[in-house]
Amino acid sequence: MKALVLAGGSGTRLRPFSYSMPKQLIPIANTPVLVHVLRAVRDLGVTKVGVVVGDRGPEIEAVLGDGSRLGLRITYLHQDAPRGLAHTVSIARDFLGEDDFVMYLGDNMLPDGVTGIAAEFAAHRPAAQVVVYKVPDPRSFGVAELGPDGEVLRLVEKPREPRSDLALVGVYFFTPAIHAAVDAIEPSERGELEITDAVQWLVSSGADVRASQYGGYWKDTGTVEDVLACNRHLLDGLTGHVEGHVDAGSVLVGEVVVEAGARVLRSRIEGPAIIGAGTVVERSRVGPHTSLGRGCRVTGSRLEGSIALDEVSVTGVRDLRDSLIGRAASVGTTGRGADHHRLVVGDHARVEVVA
Ligand code: TTP
Repeated sequence: MKALVLAGGSGTRLRPFSYSMPKQLIPIANTPVLVHVLRAVRDLGVTKVGVVVGDRGPEIEAVLGDGSRLGLRITYLHQDAPRGLAHTVSIARDFLGEDDFVMYLGDNMLPDGVTGIAAEFAAHRPAAQVVVYKVPDPRSFGVAELGPDGEVLRLVEKPREPRSDLALVGVYFFTPAIHAAVDAIEPSERGELEITDAVQWLVSSGADVRASQYGGYWKDTGTVEDVLACNRHLLDGLTGHVEGHVDAGSVLVGEVVVEAGARVLRSRIEGPAIIGAGTVVERSRVGPHTSLGRGCRVTGSRLEGSIALDEVSVTGVRDLRDSLIGRAASVGTTGRGADHHRLVVGDHARVEVVA
């Protein structure tokens, strides 16, 4: 089996971050989402991986290289524009050949793994096997209607009146039967070749299409709230260790990782939390559920439930929560006695201040 990992797309819901980096490289517990995804693929015993990239391919290649560090062989497949999930299958046609494959969306996190579902697929080899997850409100998802034995009867993209509460998760298992389906469908109203339409085409032509319910933790990290929620979940499984320096005036509580070259001075770190390599935390309180990237500087501040990317500086901020702070951004007070806010904020940024 091969894997097709999708790391193109436009990432409009993750602006402004997606202006300056591919959303699949956003760190969750200080590891890019895409690296988590590739580890999950490797856990399926797959080594040949096609990674679909758009304009931001070079940044993704700089992080993943040829995949050998992850025990994988990566082939990069360039998509000229985000023309839909099914379009990625058509551009990967030569790479995939006549092999079965798992298609994995590069922003989907399933930390409990899908090895059981992969084994089911390998045992029965239906034309397609989709993964579904029970959600309270399925209207913003692709929704599957199933028969009594888990066979897919119908797939509907973002139904106004859903007839089931089973949302499609971003992992699909396919035999080469999917290629005829992708060739047969037309772009949807939003102008994309939809994978739901391709799978529906298989169902309508009488092919065996099955669904497996995933019962673990699932997050599509397409929005800031979901990125932060996923970070919290992964940090809950953290095991602490200290490679950097923690001075005598500091306290670490719970599971805390202090990476090499990091320094914690006169501060309190409440786990779960990660202090990235080379980061300095001074006279501050950090955590719980917070991860700081590399080379950050947090001084005289309190930071909770947040992610700071590399080289962020936070100075003199009393209580910052549930925040996602982009690379080399600085957040700080205007100075002693100031009674106003001052912001230099990029396009589509969101700032919430206490009035
Ligand atoms: P989405 O999150 O559905 O789409 P998007 O990246 O355009 O984001 P937004 O809705 O916020 O604008 O895409 C799911 C995954 O598939 C994601 O990792 C990007 C990738 N993708 C491609 O590689 N090519 C495509 O044509 C599309 C639509 C998505």
